[in-house]
Amino acid sequence: MGYLQTAWESYRAFLAQAPVVGTVATAVVAVSFVVTWAHFEQMLNHNPSEPPFVRYYVPFIGSMIEFGINPIEFIRKHQRKHGNFFTFLMFGRRMTVCVDIDGNDFFFNAKHSSVTAEDAYNSLTKPVFGEGVVYDVPNAVLMEQKRMIKAGLSIENFRSYLPIIVQEVNDYVDRHWTQPEGTVELLQCISEMIILTASHSLLGPEIRKQMHEGVADLYHTLDSCFTPIHFLFEWLPLPSYYASDKAHAELDRIFGEVIAERRKHLGEKHTDMLDVFMESRYKNGELLSDKHIGNLLIALLMAGQHTSAATTTWALLNLAADKEIVADARREISSTMEREIPASADLPVPSLEDIKAFGTLDNVVRETLRIRSPLVQVMRKVIKPVAVPNTDYVIPAGNYILASPIISATDEKYYADAEAWVPGRWNTQEDDGPQDKATTDYGFGATTASARSPTLPFGAGRHRCIGEQFAYMQIKTILYVLLSRFEFELDPKRGMPERNFNSMVVLPMGPVLCRYKRRSN
Ligand code: HEM
Repeated sequence: MGYLQTAWESYRAFLAQAPVVGTVATAVVAVSFVVTWAHFEQMLNHNPSEPPFVRYYVPFIGSMIEFGINPIEFIRKHQRKHGNFFTFLMFGRRMTVCVDIDGNDFFFNAKHSSVTAEDAYNSLTKPVFGEGVVYDVPNAVLMEQKRMIKAGLSIENFRSYLPIIVQEVNDYVDRHWTQPEGTVELLQCISEMIILTASHSLLGPEIRKQMHEGVADLYHTLDSCFTPIHFLFEWLPLPSYYASDKAHAELDRIFGEVIAERRKHLGEKHTDMLDVFMESRYKNGELLSDKHIGNLLIALLMAGQHTSAATTTWALLNLAADKEIVADARREISSTMEREIPASADLPVPSLEDIKAFGTLDNVVRETLRIRSPLVQVMRKVIKPVAVPNTDYVIPAGNYILASPIISATDEKYYADAEAWVPGRWNTQEDDGPQDKATTDYGFGATTASARSPTLPFGAGRHRCIGEQFAYMQIKTILYVLLSRFEFELDPKRGMPERNFNSMVVLPMGPVLCRYKRRSN
């Protein structure tokens, strides 16, 4: 004790005599200590059968900062160095990255007995979706819930959604874009169009009516839990968790009232998910409880909100910078619908067959998803050591695995001029889907078994997106109305925005300014 006290006093006397040199020396000693600690930690934890480990200099934090600033750059840099499988430390979690078509296939088809999505996501999604749905239930139950959702996303229901989407977008622009021309925050406007069109079509007219009376605010409260902070600090008593509990209680009440009202008029048919969920049964014959119906509706709305809003916004920004493609799209719309489309709210509602035949818009959405996929990282937790096929690697239990299909989707190996937005490439691009077309049914319908494809914006395997057709229909219909009624130009000062990697779903960096001008026929 005496030695320590003497050393401490000598140190303080030294600092008092030479404060600058003393502070610098202290900082050098502290940094050396931290770096040495990190070095020993890596030596001690070295496991030769694991994929290569990205070197880090700060214990616990690891590569979190570099990854967080730009995960795509980070993954590409270390893929060049270590190959398609490597591990990095992020806030105490060991994340094993799996990329390129081998990584995609390994990740999306890993056995559920070894890797699970619920262990990776539930702490993040439960405060948002609520209990008893999606990742808060065993995987077999999720597969049944996906079967119920898929039954509701039917062709017949889609047909009834088209007039709703056209009307909502028309009403929105008539309410908000009142001048002949102007500049708008495009991401905000599109996000509002997405929530209004999705809530009206999927959740039904009763919930849509209440969007302006507080329901939209309740969704925003839940949505504020969907951030990387909530993934990393799941154990912190963040105020947003209390706010989300309150929002759920209020939404339970609202959904409960709507469900009770519908039960009084069981003969009246609706084409929305609420009707589908009220009638859906698990294999054991059980109906969904009212609470779980509400939570599934919230989950559906949330799953499509930022993903579709980001895709529509990027698509429109790119169209604003490419007049030729806009002209092609308009020509194709007129020829498909066999008439001139008026540049006003009187425009005709396209049929589902028309929407499918808008090939240029299809290419626009597909190309936007290729280079600006909103989900740049998807995760699973390893619960049993798992071997990586055709390598000597074994990923230990406790690690997370992370896939990022955008890495192969923007690789020159698969696409010429891979970072450029060229919708026309899909007219000639060879089929880039899995060559092996065999299918598997995980409980919600047939899905291609292989995930050996460079572009997988909707994932693959048992967790594959079931909202793809809805998303294409919704996005193409919104683009149809907007391109028919307006010209768009990028804001000359802001130009094309960068990507914002600070949210779970990658969005354009705000403010996302875009100029619009009403068209006249
Ligand atoms: C799953 C992307 C729109 C509902 C997924 C996954 C991806 C994805 C990549 C897989 C996640 C994983 O493997 O961890 C997208 C994109 C969209 C979109 C890019 C829009 C452009 C929608 C919409 C809905 C929806 C509109 C609902 C109407 C779901 C559901 C799952 C899912 C229910 C399944 C989750 C699971 O099984 O774990 N989506 N999605 N998505 N998505 Fe989408």
